[in-house]
Amino acid sequence: MSDTLTKLAYQTVQQGKSYFGLVHKAVSTQLLNFVASPAIDEKTKTTKFSLELIQTIQRRMSEILETDWQDVERGVYPASLLFDNPWEDFFRYYPVVWLDMPELWQRANAKRYQEFDAEVETEGLPSYYVQNFHHQTNGYLTDTSANLYDLQVEILFNGTADPMRRRILAPLKAGLQAFSEVLPSQIKVLDVACGTGRTLRNIRGMLPKASLYGVDLSAAYLRKANQLLSQFEGTLPQLVQGNAEELPYLENYFHAVTSVFLFHELPPQARQNVINEAFRVVKPGGTFIICDSIQVGDLPELAPAMEWFPETFHEPYYRHYMTDDLVARLKNAGFDQVSEQVHFMSKYLIAKKPVAVAPEVTKMATGIAID
Ligand SMILES: C[S@@+](CC[C@H](N)C(=O)[O-])C[C@H]1O[C@@H](n2cnc3c(N)ncnc32)[C@H](O)[C@@H]1O
Repeated sequence: MSDTLTKLAYQTVQQGKSYFGLVHKAVSTQLLNFVASPAIDEKTKTTKFSLELIQTIQRRMSEILETDWQDVERGVYPASLLFDNPWEDFFRYYPVVWLDMPELWQRANAKRYQEFDAEVETEGLPSYYVQNFHHQTNGYLTDTSANLYDLQVEILFNGTADPMRRRILAPLKAGLQAFSEVLPSQIKVLDVACGTGRTLRNIRGMLPKASLYGVDLSAAYLRKANQLLSQFEGTLPQLVQGNAEELPYLENYFHAVTSVFLFHELPPQARQNVINEAFRVVKPGGTFIICDSIQVGDLPELAPAMEWFPETFHEPYYRHYMTDDLVARLKNAGFDQVSEQVHFMSKYLIAKKPVAVAPEVTKMATGIAID
């Protein structure tokens, strides 16, 4: 396919996804108002986006798709990644999204945020994690939740979840230049809170030979990630169930560490703990990249959308996250050269671990005294 045709095909697919997301949200909101009226929270019912806000969102969506395309043209990753959509899963699980909705609405309306089926094992998990994030049935803890997650995120972001995830790829590739003497197959990259593996899938598309690793607290999401990632040829990413606050890896092990859409779901101290752990496991000269929601001040014109998000979805730590100083947290852990980017509704923090780490910084990040 010629470049023009490929770009056109990509824009058409994305347009389709965007309409799908918009129509789904419009129909479900109408239905919610009809079925749940008058019991449903007035705030949830009446939240409306102004025409100006919708136009801003549409403009920013077009911009991120253009950036996505430009990164393909620059050779950062292959065009095939733009068309890597799990269609089979989408068609299979879309009816389940609707079937799950009445129960989800009831829970949301009754403000029941920590409700799990009796057979769901929650023991040993951090209490902040045992939540119905986004009002999801059984939170992150069942196979059904894992099967619906990617579809739900695609609907929420009108098909731009992967274009947002892919914005980590250019800084990741640039960061790995520091290890240009290392064989591609010896490069080790960790994705923290890998979920169903979408970010690892995108990284695999760019780095077909690298050793990839993923860690997440949810066994169900890791099972899903394993299923999706094993569709690729070549070495399987190594997936481990574990807490990002206590990464089960040696220090100075990875050439780069990434984390996508995790930090807004963590309480403040956990955010710092995860950053400290990323600092510990990344090699000197290595890069840590965070992708998460925009914060207050990043894009003032999108402030109403940021307000809407935690009002509509159960996101207990989002309000604190909105104003948290992540740059200060990264520097506190020992990272230097922290740079920031903003694309569509996400922001990116790209942090370097200094080549020579001062002893007191190692002490701070690991909690272990060294002489
Ligand atoms: C919003 S999802 C993001 C998943 C994935 N990174 C993506 O891009 O779709 C948040 C993920 O973080 C995981 N998670 C939350 N707290 C965690 C923690 N303390 N340690 C490890 N994983 C955690 C959840 O299980 C879930 O998979």
